[in-house]
Amino acid sequence: MAFKERVFSGVQPTGNLHLGNYLGAIKKFVALQAQYDCIYCVVDLHAITVPINVWGGPKTLRENIREVTAAFIAAGIDPKKHIVFNQSQVSAHAELAWIFNCVARLGWLNRMTQFKEKAGKDRENASIGLYDYPVLMAADILVYRATHVPVGDDQKQHLELCRDIAQKFNNDFASSIAELGHGQAYFPLTEPIIQGPATRVMSLRDGTKKMSKSDPSDYSRINLTDDADAIAQKVRKAKTDPEPLPSEEAGLAVRPEADNLVGIYAALADRPKAEVLGEFGGAQFSTFKTALVDLAVSQLAPIAAEMKRIGQDTAYIDSVLAEGSDRAEAVAAETMKSVKDIVGLIRR
Ligand code: TYM
Repeated sequence: MAFKERVFSGVQPTGNLHLGNYLGAIKKFVALQAQYDCIYCVVDLHAITVPINVWGGPKTLRENIREVTAAFIAAGIDPKKHIVFNQSQVSAHAELAWIFNCVARLGWLNRMTQFKEKAGKDRENASIGLYDYPVLMAADILVYRATHVPVGDDQKQHLELCRDIAQKFNNDFASSIAELGHGQAYFPLTEPIIQGPATRVMSLRDGTKKMSKSDPSDYSRINLTDDADAIAQKVRKAKTDPEPLPSEEAGLAVRPEADNLVGIYAALADRPKAEVLGEFGGAQFSTFKTALVDLAVSQLAPIAAEMKRIGQDTAYIDSVLAEGSDRAEAVAAETMKSVKDIVGLIRR
């Protein structure tokens, strides 16, 4: 069965939005608007899966939800043409997650590497929510029967789980799905969109570590709120090696820091890495970094300024989220009706 093409993706409001979030996700969200109907969600229910001191408490959470919303709009997402909202305002996400809890298998979740990383050694003390995180993520996507999900490379395994859940639901309830006129499958097997030179942006201090909001060193990442001076300082201080840049991509293979900076440049410039090396191959890092600072500042500083401007108008942001939630809810409610019928629950 052909499903209506639709893009869904989410970003957690856990503070410190950085260049990895921008190049791996948000910049792609913006580009996909031209081709698809898109739904972009601030996944606040995911943010509370880690302890309160990590997400900063209720006041910080509210600020962070608004900040991610402002970042979406500042980066170029149009909340009138597409849907921008926060997850907790549409209760169908949590409701479908429960049904999927009864479809997903313990063995599948036990394999999730991100849970292992985030729970660390003290696994007994992790929240059930952290363990169940990927099931809620599958519900986020499938409650809109989304066909495409742009994400960074670190979300690949979660999207495989989403497909497994969709497939098992379709199989377990195959006769009910057919009887109710939905054909052979009710949920699509969603395609991840993980492409381009910056699907995994690395730390500016260590090219073998992912750029992350939880790194204690602020010099490890460029935050979306950084101004031109901060961006320039961080790029200039970024770790490099003593060799000039290679002329071919193969020359980046054992040079993680060089590879990362070239990938960042390529993604910001919308050019392939090979082309960037065609221009800068043989150049010293000092020359390349000057060009990278100019490019990064020209692309990111206007977003930071716009985020700040939009961020001051909380009434506007809250109205975007309320309106987006209404529109998202209308789609999600249709899915929940069908799902309840398929499963055999009695509804009003
Ligand atoms: P979050 O908030 O941790 O990350 C948001 C997006 O940023 C990408 N990302 C990166 N991409 C490249 N390099 C990096 N260093 C980097 N760091 C983060 C992430 O891959 C992600 O695309 N689980 C999701 C949130 C979520 C979601 C969903 C996504 C919840 N439900 C449904 C898609 C569909 C997450 O990790 O968000």
